[in-house]
Amino acid sequence: MTLLHTIHSGDTTSLFESITNDIMDKGYSIRPYALPENLAQLLLQHVTVMSDENFKRAGIGRAQDHTVNDFVRTDEICWITGNSEAGSAWIKWTESLRVFLNKRLFLGLFSFESHFAHYAKGDFYKKHKDAFKGEDNRMLSVVVYLNQFWSPDDGGELVIYDNQAEASTIIDNSVIKVTPNFGTIVVFLSEDFPHEVLPANRDRYSIAGWFRLNNSIANNIDPPS
Ligand code: OGA
Ligand code: MN
Repeated sequence: MTLLHTIHSGDTTSLFESITNDIMDKGYSIRPYALPENLAQLLLQHVTVMSDENFKRAGIGRAQDHTVNDFVRTDEICWITGNSEAGSAWIKWTESLRVFLNKRLFLGLFSFESHFAHYAKGDFYKKHKDAFKGEDNRMLSVVVYLNQFWSPDDGGELVIYDNQAEASTIIDNSVIKVTPNFGTIVVFLSEDFPHEVLPANRDRYSIAGWFRLNNSIANNIDPPS
């Protein structure tokens, strides 16, 4: 069976369906081990053979405001292009998710950008939001994990803060912890969910990406952030 065949199988439709329903119900979706196995393997193999020089210290803020800040985040990133087999398979898969979400939710998602992230032992990303109301055009965040055999002692959980749940219940279910296990997919509304990455005790690989709204200015179509 070819990669393309698998990506467009019925399983993918029901996965996209579940993600869409989760987003409608609560604004986020956590789907353990849900990334198509062959895509996950391709991406894992790609990050494994990439040399350290491909990864650069991640910064915070956009364009001119971009700075490296050891207090906020210490991971290293590499932006994903379609130049590798893994990168192009990933872009294809996210493109089909984008088209699906637009059909079902009328979100008007226009483009997608994403990077690999490497958290070495001790690395973290403090509590932050991926977008701010009125300031950014990042609409939906997508994170997937590429770590096999993650154990509870390995740390490195993604913590999502659900302020809505906090306000509406007595029992505190407002803090959601996600283990960065191989093939787990997390999707959430970028403006609505502050989140953080706890320090990992071993190498931790993820992909973080953002579906963006069209932000065309004059003839400059959707300039990168
Ligand atoms: C990010 C991010 C989460 C993760 O890069 O903005 O929140 O679990 N990443 O890697
Ligand atoms: Mn983030």
